[in-house]
Amino acid sequence: MKKTSELIWQDKQHQVLFELIDQINGKEVDARIFRQLFEYAENHFTMEEEYMKKLDFPGTKKHIRAHNKFRSELKSMMQDYKSYDDIFRQALSEFLSEWLKGHIFGVDKKLEEFILNSPYK
Ligand SMILES: [Fe+2]
Ligand SMILES: [Fe+2]
Repeated sequence: MKKTSELIWQDKQHQVLFELIDQINGKEVDARIFRQLFEYAENHFTMEEEYMKKLDFPGTKKHIRAHNKFRSELKSMMQDYKSYDDIFRQALSEFLSEWLKGHIFGVDKKLEEFILNSPYK
């Protein structure tokens, strides 16, 4: 049974990422926002991973691999950047938009449905 109208912690955390992307698209990119993004991702991924393990979610390994790929790509962007110019900002914005389409609207939705139908939401 599907329960899609309920708002759970996962949705609220995804909202934070939408806001960060808006700031980046609005050219507000500096070291502070990068740090926020990094901390946000780490906290959010850790929480999703804890739930997946606790609930024995069938796609856990694959989902964690996707998080790890994001973690390492973001880290290398942080290490490689020289200045927050338009090229950098655009690359970061594209990277996050791809993540939205491919991960948040994809596998995270499957996880959401699983959590909503579990006793631990
Ligand atoms: Fe997520
Ligand atoms: Fe995820």
